[in-house]
Amino acid sequence: MNVLLLGSGGREHALAWKIAASPLLTKLYASPGNPGIGSVAELVKLDMSDHSAVAAFCQEKKIDLVVVGPEGPLVAGIADDLRAWGIRVFGPSKAAARLEGSKGFTKDLCAKFNIPTAAYGRFGDLASAKAYVEKTGAPIVIKADGLAAGKGVTIAMTLEEALAALEACFEGAFGTAGAEVVVEEYLTGEEASFFCLCDGATALPFSTAQDHKRVGDGDTGPNTGGMGAYSPAPVMTAEMTERTMREIIEPTMRGMANLGAPFAGILFAGLMITDQGPKLIEYNTRFGDPECQVLMMRLKDDLLILLNAAVDGQLAHMSARWSDEAALTVVMAARGYPGTPEKGSVIRGLDEAAGEGAEIFHAGTAINGGALVANGGRVLNVTATGATVGEAQRRAYAAIDHIDWPQGFFRHDIGWRAVEREKAGA
Ligand code: AMP
Ligand code: GLY
Repeated sequence: MNVLLLGSGGREHALAWKIAASPLLTKLYASPGNPGIGSVAELVKLDMSDHSAVAAFCQEKKIDLVVVGPEGPLVAGIADDLRAWGIRVFGPSKAAARLEGSKGFTKDLCAKFNIPTAAYGRFGDLASAKAYVEKTGAPIVIKADGLAAGKGVTIAMTLEEALAALEACFEGAFGTAGAEVVVEEYLTGEEASFFCLCDGATALPFSTAQDHKRVGDGDTGPNTGGMGAYSPAPVMTAEMTERTMREIIEPTMRGMANLGAPFAGILFAGLMITDQGPKLIEYNTRFGDPECQVLMMRLKDDLLILLNAAVDGQLAHMSARWSDEAALTVVMAARGYPGTPEKGSVIRGLDEAAGEGAEIFHAGTAINGGALVANGGRVLNVTATGATVGEAQRRAYAAIDHIDWPQGFFRHDIGWRAVEREKAGA
């Protein structure tokens, strides 16, 4: 098979690495990719917003499957447009990607199909949103409805913060994504990321992970796209997984089919495990980054076979097997992230780091004058496995010790919650 992978982050490097290991693969192309992806794929420059240009490339290169990494093109309808050209695509339609593209859409789906989630209101103007917040009180959560690159959520511990967040949204802080706002009840519990591979009718559980959203050690500082992750998530016991499938995922699959928008692709449920059980925080309609990196380390089966089965509606006959080992990834970021990262600093020592048995997935890297340099906020994902999360953690940090990049930084405590649990259990 010839495969085209769209995207350029650590998630896409992990997908490329796993797809490249498939005996089914003839040739892998990636656009735009990054230097890490370039070691297993031919990099091409396509304008992802120009769906006809992507389709023309697929026809010219006889692409049998397009794998879409990020949410932006999915929400913009790239899967529908490529399918209209007869091209097979792994990723949801525009109508199904509303599960990520509109938080209000997902909340209404939950209400209609009785899916456990935080109580909420949807508002298109400041006055009515304010009235709701003043009536409900803090703590409360304010969310821009649309895609806001992970920045559209404010956890307001006071009424003043909540009102300021509402004003910022309606004043255009998130552009059109904030023209509508979802106001939610504040949930407490432990968070987990739950993945399902879906073919429109069947949802195949596709393992679990936990990530670390705050930039600093001890979960402090501003939110990021994720500073590290590990898999599996210990909080997702067999019972919690069964309840999540029955109470959240299966009603979502039925609901989407009911609305004429069956979901095919990766359904990524952000969950809060509360005293009453799992509640949906949000859906994403693609793999998480950096969660994908740890999932790919543990997947024992051929990813390309599974992606094809999802595209062909054949998942009812499939299973996915996972290593019993834990996997953990530490994100190395460029100074300045999650604000404006410094670009261009030289990174050395990756071969020595890989010598520790780690996989180093590239995210924001580039080659400049023959040297590997930082070219984004999140730059490298140093990923290792182990019999326990603690062991995977030790291996990942042992690999990082070899990386010579003074302008980079990382969290020192990725996996802390699971490691504490392991110590308590020992
Ligand atoms: P989201 O972009 O929707 O994933 O939100 C980012 C983060 O905000 C989540 O990972 C949670 O940590 C937090 N969050 C979102 N919604 C809620 C909620 N209703 N209650 C508590 N925390 C929340
Ligand atoms: N790491 C969270 C996400 O990919 O949305």
